[in-house]
Amino acid sequence: MSTESMNSAKEKVVLAYSGGLDTSVCVKWLQDELGYDVICVLGNVGQEHDGLEKIEAKAKALGVVACEVVDMREEFANEYLTCAIAANAMYENKYPLLSALSRPLISKHLVDAAHKYGATAVAHGCTGKGNDQVRFETSIMALDPTLKVIAPVREWDLGMRPDEIAYAKAHGVPVPVSLDKPYSIDDNLWGRAIEAGVLEDPWNEPPEDIWTMTVSPLEAPDEPTYVELGFEAGVPVSLDGEKMGLVELVDKLNAIAGAAGFGRIDMIENRYVGIKSRECYEVPAGLAIIQAHKALEDLCLERDVLHYKLGLEQTWADQVYNGRWFSPLKLALDAFMGATQEALTGEIKLKLYKGSCVVVGRKSAAALYDQQLATYDNDDAFDQQAAKGFIDIQALSIKTWAMKQAQLEQAHAAAFVPQSSAAAFDVVEGGAVELSAAASL
Ligand code: ARG
Repeated sequence: MSTESMNSAKEKVVLAYSGGLDTSVCVKWLQDELGYDVICVLGNVGQEHDGLEKIEAKAKALGVVACEVVDMREEFANEYLTCAIAANAMYENKYPLLSALSRPLISKHLVDAAHKYGATAVAHGCTGKGNDQVRFETSIMALDPTLKVIAPVREWDLGMRPDEIAYAKAHGVPVPVSLDKPYSIDDNLWGRAIEAGVLEDPWNEPPEDIWTMTVSPLEAPDEPTYVELGFEAGVPVSLDGEKMGLVELVDKLNAIAGAAGFGRIDMIENRYVGIKSRECYEVPAGLAIIQAHKALEDLCLERDVLHYKLGLEQTWADQVYNGRWFSPLKLALDAFMGATQEALTGEIKLKLYKGSCVVVGRKSAAALYDQQLATYDNDDAFDQQAAKGFIDIQALSIKTWAMKQAQLEQAHAAAFVPQSSAAAFDVVEGGAVELSAAASL
């Protein structure tokens, strides 16, 4: 930081910087139109890039006061992905929330940088049509409600791309030669989101070139790939028996599952802002891990906990999708999820084959599965005679209701029988009811 900018009377803003055209124009716009000193935060959340140093140099060339390159991968894996795995996070039962998981983490670093540099405002490069603006701003408000939030792309009148390019050229922002990026992409360790371009027509099959983490199932090997995932307290800790940290495990599993053609999603999704959008995702490791994690829960969680948890998982995913990572409800749900995870230590065997992933084996010292209870063989420990009393009593309220229904119908039928379509009820022995429709057509 130069002494000049340190002592400058200008207010400071911290910008979430990606190195792309939009956020580069944001730098200039914040400097020239709003008169801010700009501090960039460039987060490494495991996205594809060709050199973070290059992006840092680009920010510096735009005259920013500072550019902080922050490696957020460990934090992303250990504090965000672990919570998502515990909650089997899947918005609308399909989308594993990859972008929604990184936004609160990046926001936290933006707020930290604002405090470090004494900035009064925080800015992001999201448009006004998506979920990400909601996630950044809600997170920032939760972490420091006194900070001002600026969304240049939503606020400026640079309209469509040509105006933005003209502004960039006029203000010395380098414009990449091949600007014709046909898709809007957001990616991190958990996967990639691909939208826009030809995908906007939901009838168009996704072109093969949108995928970078997964091979086409048609090109995948003819032999299945087996993977063993080890979990400790619900967290994946080993791959094929080898212990490793979550960042490395997700990286490796992305490569293995992606090579088997597994992990593609093509869906219509309900954005929080009310728009339905067509989204494609690749989440090879994420989908495999959630599938394995659910299989371990099936084995180890008591029935009522498992069932109750399923409902809360939807709420958790909605909260996070809608940008409410730091909300009191989401934090309370994390506490519930956490309490359910303690027993989840064990191994799950997955079989990956030409775009599919199936659980083919599971074991755990904490398994509630009891072969002696489940078996149909002779050493059955289950008391089948006890089933009758159990069924009679649990069905009593329904049986009582059914008998009363029959009496009422009978009384009703006796009062107003239309000759042609009378329904006759016979109360048979033991109280069971038989219905015979005497339809004369
Ligand atoms: N629809 C997804 C979500 O809301 C992905 C958004 C990805 N962002 C992007 N700029 N392509 O989480």
